[in-house]
Amino acid sequence: MKTQLEQIRQAAKEVLETFETKEQIEEARIKYLGKKGELTAILKQMGKLSAEERPVIGQLANEIRADIEETIAKKSAEIKEKELERKLKEETIDVTMPGKEASLGHKHPLSIVLDEIKEIFMGMGFDVAEGPEVEYDYYNFEALNIPPDHPARDTQDTFYIEDNIVLRTQTSPVQIRFMENNKPPFRMIAPGRVFRSDAVDATHSPLFHQIEGLVVDKGVTMADLKGTLEAFAKRLYGEDTKIRLRPHHFPFTEPSCEIDVSCFKCGGKGCPMCKGEGWIEILGGGMVHPKVLKNGGIDPEEYSGFAFGIGLERLVMFRFNIDDMRLLYENDLRFLEQF
Ligand code: DAH
Repeated sequence: MKTQLEQIRQAAKEVLETFETKEQIEEARIKYLGKKGELTAILKQMGKLSAEERPVIGQLANEIRADIEETIAKKSAEIKEKELERKLKEETIDVTMPGKEASLGHKHPLSIVLDEIKEIFMGMGFDVAEGPEVEYDYYNFEALNIPPDHPARDTQDTFYIEDNIVLRTQTSPVQIRFMENNKPPFRMIAPGRVFRSDAVDATHSPLFHQIEGLVVDKGVTMADLKGTLEAFAKRLYGEDTKIRLRPHHFPFTEPSCEIDVSCFKCGGKGCPMCKGEGWIEILGGGMVHPKVLKNGGIDPEEYSGFAFGIGLERLVMFRFNIDDMRLLYENDLRFLEQF
């Protein structure tokens, strides 16, 4: 039995020496020291031994068990350390390598100017509202005092989704939706995309952007419209900017006007930018038509208001001297990277 035990010790040590993985070590542990292992098998035969032999063999067996355990522990530690070394080597970072530069994006020119406009109006206490791009005929036309055969419909070549549903041709429908959901007094702007079935060229696109404005309160007059939009123009183009109102017609305002700013390039003397006029048209507006207030659920006897509509693309093109609107939509990086 002594020889058998010594053989086990010898074999275990030799085998363990050649092992290189945690799994192999575990296998060896089970093989030699496990409940069904070789050492246990021998110890089970201890009953056959004489009373003198038993403690001697017992002691030897324990010694061998401890010995093998120690070898296993040593070997495990060795493997762990090797593993760690390997990992460290694999995962080293060469800090002298050139880094990958994360390139920052640019704000789109439309966003640059829109953000400025929002900032200016928010500074004057305006809320920023939104409305759906797919809109009912009712909100886009009818409620804005544009009945079915009104000629204004012809000037806004409309994309129809269904008989009574359109892609909004203007941001003005947000006026009605806002009035339905808010009690005056209020001041709001509603920027967004609008759609018209126009052929693409240097100044037209089937998708473009407007910023609607609406102010309703008791006793609002044309003077408020003029003062507000003058303050806006000065903030956008500088303190020396002047504005002028020209009579115009919109179905949803009465009276209506178009508003020009003194040319921000030549200051009003006349140059290629303003085509020699000294003035550049930037928006349309007027006093909200009583019918429109009524359609929004507001009593025109009690309240009055002014509204305006700004075409964003025009402002952006003037601002950055862009002569072709298509550049704003083509997403050519050579163009966009300039902003
Ligand atoms: N909705 C008009 C358009 O698309 C622009 C406009 C003009 C809006 C006058 C207004 C306004 O709110 O008062 O041509």
